[in-house]
Amino acid sequence: MTAHPSHVRPAPEGPRPVLARITPPARPLGPWRFLRALMRNPLEAWPETIYREPHYISAFLGNSSLFVMAPNLIRRVMVDEADAFEKSEVLRRALSPALGDAILTADGARWRWQRRAAAPIFRAERIRSFVPAMIAAAERTRDALAAAPGTEIDIARTMMRTTFEIIVETMLSGPGPIDAARVERGITDYLESTSWVIALTLLRAPAWMPFPGRARAERAKMYLRDELVRLAAEGRRTGTEGRNDLMSLLLAARDPETGQAMDDRDVADNLLTFVTAGHETTALALTWAFYLLSHHPESEALIAAEVEATTGGGPLRPEHVDALPYTRQVILEAMRLYPPVPVVVRAAIRDVDLDGIAVTAGTPITIPIYAVHRHATLWDEPERFDPARFAPDAVKARDRYAYLPFAAGPRICIGMGFALSEAVAILAVLVRALRFSLRPGYQPELKQRITLRPAEGMPMRVTLR
Ligand code: HEM
Repeated sequence: MTAHPSHVRPAPEGPRPVLARITPPARPLGPWRFLRALMRNPLEAWPETIYREPHYISAFLGNSSLFVMAPNLIRRVMVDEADAFEKSEVLRRALSPALGDAILTADGARWRWQRRAAAPIFRAERIRSFVPAMIAAAERTRDALAAAPGTEIDIARTMMRTTFEIIVETMLSGPGPIDAARVERGITDYLESTSWVIALTLLRAPAWMPFPGRARAERAKMYLRDELVRLAAEGRRTGTEGRNDLMSLLLAARDPETGQAMDDRDVADNLLTFVTAGHETTALALTWAFYLLSHHPESEALIAAEVEATTGGGPLRPEHVDALPYTRQVILEAMRLYPPVPVVVRAAIRDVDLDGIAVTAGTPITIPIYAVHRHATLWDEPERFDPARFAPDAVKARDRYAYLPFAAGPRICIGMGFALSEAVAILAVLVRALRFSLRPGYQPELKQRITLRPAEGMPMRVTLR
C-alpha cells in the first residue's frame, strides 16, 4: 500500500512558529550600511520592495544591477535569451581561484564541452544505480545516531558528512584516501572569504588586496586543489578501464573544437566543483528540512507514516525512493523557504530586451531566488511552511519560473535528479527511525556564503522514534 497524504493539510494547533527569515530593510540602504550588510549576509542588503515588485534596479557606488523577480523576466534571462548572458565577474572572482574554469564557472564553448562530458553520469538510469549507495550512507548515519539516543548533535555537520560520503563514493568510485574532515573545513574556510571578495570587487579593489581570513582561505584552497590534482593524476596513472565514474568520463573527454583532452588541472577543477556543488547544497536542503520538521511534528509524522506504508515495514529499497510523494514535497517546500543557492547573478554580453526592459551589454542581472520564493504576488502566505504547495495540481497551477532552487534553462543544475533522490532517501531513512528536536528556544541565523547556511549550525536532540 502506498500512502498519498499529499492532500492532507494538518491544521496547526496553537500559535504558528516564527520561522527563521531575513528581515529586509524598509528602504534601500546607504553605502556604508549596504557594505556592512554585504559582509554580514548579502541577503540582508536587499530592500523590502524586491519581495513585492516584478523588477528593481539597485545601485551601489556606481555598480548597478537589475533584479528580476517576475517569472516572465526570469524565463527571458535563463531560457529564451540564455546565450546573451554569462556568469558574473563577481562570481568568477569569488569562485575561480578554487574551482578554476570548470563547468560551474566557465562560459560559452568551454562550458558546453565540459557539460557534455559530464552529462552521461546524470542520466536517469545512472542516478538509479547510485541510490543504493545513498540509502547505505543514510543507514550508517541512522545507526550512528541511534547508538547514542538523547545526544545533541549539529544536524548541519551530520548532513555534510553523509552527503560528502555519497558524493565521493558515487563520483570518485569510493572514498580512497581523502580526509573528509579537512576537505569540509577547507570548503567552509574558503566560502567564508567569498563575502570579502565580493565586497572588494564591488569597491573595484585590486585582486591582491588583503582581508581578514585571506591567508586561511588561501591555505584551504591550496589543500583542496592539491588533493584533487593528486587524485586526477592517480586516476590517469592507474587507468580508467572498468571504471564507470565521473573521473573516467572527464579523462576520456575531448574538446570538439581542438580535439584536446583535459589536463590534470582541468580534471581536478571539475572534480572539486562536483564534490563541492554536489554535497553542501543537498546537506543544506536537509538541514533546513529538519529545522522545519522540528517546528511541524505533524508533518514529520506524515513522513514516517508514508515510509512505513510504502515499505510495508521493511527496509527502504531503491524503488521506494520515487514512491514517497509527501517526503519529496517536504524537501521541495524546505528549498522554497531556504533555497540552498539563494541567488544567481548573470551579466549581459550584448544589448537585450527583456519584455520591454532594455538591458545594455555589461549590466549585471540578479535573480534573487530567496525573494522569488517568498514573493507576495507568487505565493499565498509565503512565510508559511506548507508541503501541499508541491502537490501535483498545485504545481501545475503555478508558473514554472516562480520556483528555482536548481535555476533553469541550459545552466540548470546538472545534479538536480541526483540531489532529489539523495535528499528523499536520507530524510526517509532518518525520520522513520528517529525524532529530531531543535534545541529549545534556538533560532538559527541565516547566513549567505554563496550558499544559505545556518550561521551557527543547527543543534538538535535525537531520540528513537
Ligand atoms: C539540493 C541540492 C542542490 C541545489 C539546490 C543545487 C542548485 C544549483 C543551482 C541553483 C545551480 C545553478 C547555478 C548558476 O546557474 O549560477 C547549480 C549548478 C550546478 N550544480 Fe547543483 N544543486 C544541488 C545539488 C547538486 C549536486 C548533487 C550536484 C552534483 C552531483 C550538483 C552539481 C552542479 C553543477 C556541476 C552545476 C553547474 C552546472 C552548469 O553550469 O552547467 N548540484 N546547482
